[in-house]
Amino acid sequence: MIRAAELIQRKRDGEELPADELSELVLGYARGEVPDYQLAAFCMAVYFRGLSPAETFALTDAMIRSGETIDLGAALGRKVVDKHSTGGVGDKTSLAVGPIVAACGVPLGKMSGRGLGHTGGTLDKLESIPGYRTELTVDEYVAQVRDVGVAIIGQTGDLVPADKLLYGLRDVTATVDEPSLIAASIMSKKLAAGAQAIVLDVKVGNGAFMKTLEEARRLAETMIALGENAGREVVCLLTDMDQPLGAAVGNALEVREALETVRGRGPADFTELVLDACAKLLALSDLGIDEAEGRRRAEAAVADGSAAVAWARWIEAQGGTADESALPSAAVVRELVSPAAGFVMSLSAIGVGNAAVHLGAGRRTKDDQIDHSVGIVVHAKRGDRVEEGQTLAEIHARTGEEADSGAREVLAAYEIADTEPDERPVLLAVVD
Ligand code: URA
Repeated sequence: MIRAAELIQRKRDGEELPADELSELVLGYARGEVPDYQLAAFCMAVYFRGLSPAETFALTDAMIRSGETIDLGAALGRKVVDKHSTGGVGDKTSLAVGPIVAACGVPLGKMSGRGLGHTGGTLDKLESIPGYRTELTVDEYVAQVRDVGVAIIGQTGDLVPADKLLYGLRDVTATVDEPSLIAASIMSKKLAAGAQAIVLDVKVGNGAFMKTLEEARRLAETMIALGENAGREVVCLLTDMDQPLGAAVGNALEVREALETVRGRGPADFTELVLDACAKLLALSDLGIDEAEGRRRAEAAVADGSAAVAWARWIEAQGGTADESALPSAAVVRELVSPAAGFVMSLSAIGVGNAAVHLGAGRRTKDDQIDHSVGIVVHAKRGDRVEEGQTLAEIHARTGEEADSGAREVLAAYEIADTEPDERPVLLAVVD
């Protein structure tokens, strides 16, 4: 029987832990033999002390071994792709990428997570669709990737249960933003879910867990090493998260925006990132095409409506309704207007992300129920010229009081000045 308190103490004091002990701790936690409070303390020790490459590998391996693993290549007899983000504000990229890639004839199988801290989670977004099932059995998941071309599921009692538990714990114990914990969480899901080629979107900026390009590059390199060690191809995009991605922040609002993007009517910055990710995935697939051709095919699938058809097929196959009027809407929608004329110098992603959590779009404790209808739609972003009284954002809230408080928070996230800011692209670098 593992002595968890001793392991916590040794990690707290800076010791490198052997793989077998780390593994026992994680597997004991997944079996319910080690309580939440000890894992929370352990994660905090890791937050301050970090993990060595060997420990990060051991943690990832133990998390994978806490459940089943799937070999999608063997099950389908062809290459399956996957995409994952380290977490941002307004980051609904996977929702649009899945059906576009599927419409191009490439199967995508993905295991996602819920919102973490001020960032949104793909599973929470998908659960705003009435009926959508995030927990499929392994057989259902494999059959859907094969027959429909896309499936996006969550961790279950069978698939990486250790990440399911740890993820919820880290979210509410201020232990999300530790690179080894992020790498192990993401790569355990990617390796267990069985795709052979993976595009990772490592977010950088004030709304991301990695604040600088250097930190993001190190996280990318750690995840690439974990993937390559397991025989997978991994490419990392390092992308801007100083301001929210696209316009919508909040679960149902983001699903609507992702669908609009699949239909070719999405915000420019978000559309650009979606097409970049699709181009990379198609170039890594078994179609034998390069990135330029991948981009052309992704654009064509959006333009000819086949991506929107793939969206409906996917959502319905997973039990959801493809009718967007069934998505929940907030009781109160309040406009936030600009107090002055000028240029938007910055729009703090973390400011908007926290405002969305306070409106009810994220969790404060593990058992919190989120409200899928609430959130923020920003109408003015970095570099936009605004006039006094012009709408900066819409606040979607449960009550007038919450809308007022959300509006104050979002206004505080805006910096409006007389001069135009320098341009900053969404795609900052690629690591492969
Ligand atoms: N996404 C994950 O799946 N895990 C993390 O720890 C952060 C982002």
